[in-house]
Amino acid sequence: MKVLRTPAEVHALREELRRQPVTVGLVPTMGYLHEGHNSLLRAAREENDVVVMSLFVNPTQFRAGEDLSAYPRDEERDLAIARSSGVDYIYAPEPDAVYPSGFASRVEVEGLTEVLCGAEQSRGAGHFAGVTTIVAKLLNAIDPDVAYLGQKDAQQATVIRRLVEDLEFRTKIVILPTVRERDGLAMSSRNAYLSPEARERATAIWASLLETEKAFAEAGLEPALEAGRRHLEEAGITPEYFEARYPGTLDPADGIGSDPILVAVSATVDGTRLIDNILIEPSRSLNGAGAPQAATTPRRTR
Ligand code: PAF
Repeated sequence: MKVLRTPAEVHALREELRRQPVTVGLVPTMGYLHEGHNSLLRAAREENDVVVMSLFVNPTQFRAGEDLSAYPRDEERDLAIARSSGVDYIYAPEPDAVYPSGFASRVEVEGLTEVLCGAEQSRGAGHFAGVTTIVAKLLNAIDPDVAYLGQKDAQQATVIRRLVEDLEFRTKIVILPTVRERDGLAMSSRNAYLSPEARERATAIWASLLETEKAFAEAGLEPALEAGRRHLEEAGITPEYFEARYPGTLDPADGIGSDPILVAVSATVDGTRLIDNILIEPSRSLNGAGAPQAATTPRRTR
């Protein structure tokens, strides 16, 4: 496994790979790898000749006052995990290499980025401009055939799909299911911040989404959202948002019809901002097929 530190090194690699009949899979990360990342790395390894992982805590996607300096980092450990997952190249630049003095460009996806995590009372649309700018730079430099993202960041996945389509990147975006701890908590690098008490309380987030899915089958969307919110409140958690949207457009869902509904939540538990979501399939729920976790874990989408 080779570690690349500068855009010039990435460009040289891409030139070399272009001369060979190989497919390239990219797993973009901010490091502090967990099993969720591993599932992306495994898929990339199985499906491509060459696997590139980016490891960059992107400063422009953090809001002032957010946890940039405290964001968990352990490059040595990440490199070891990447090596054992069969990664061929790590791109781990310093911020100055990505954003040199004079850098003035911004890639922005409108609309989709102004709701949920992009709403002013959450992280603000600037967060997604940071994400789409760095992702556009990575796709441009690495030019992967496929890039792998996790469903936990459902809004990010929708925004990146839009970016890829609008700017005609040739990369195929693959979204893989959220990987969970045994008690249901979605794996996230931020879980490392949680005290044992907060960690325990945070399990209410996934439980509230399951509660929503169950109540949807019995009573419809609005009562289901209320049930989910109540479940969180009973655990002493006030969500920043707990909303139902259509996954492709992020328009508010009305629960009528058979389109899948994304119920997404963001909540701060003891100072740590956590997000999670569930995809409810109305046809399945209304057929009385029940709502076990496996039934709603999003399938792999391309
Ligand atoms: O999901 C993440 O880890 C980041 O937002 C990403 C896609 C690597 C961009 O910095």
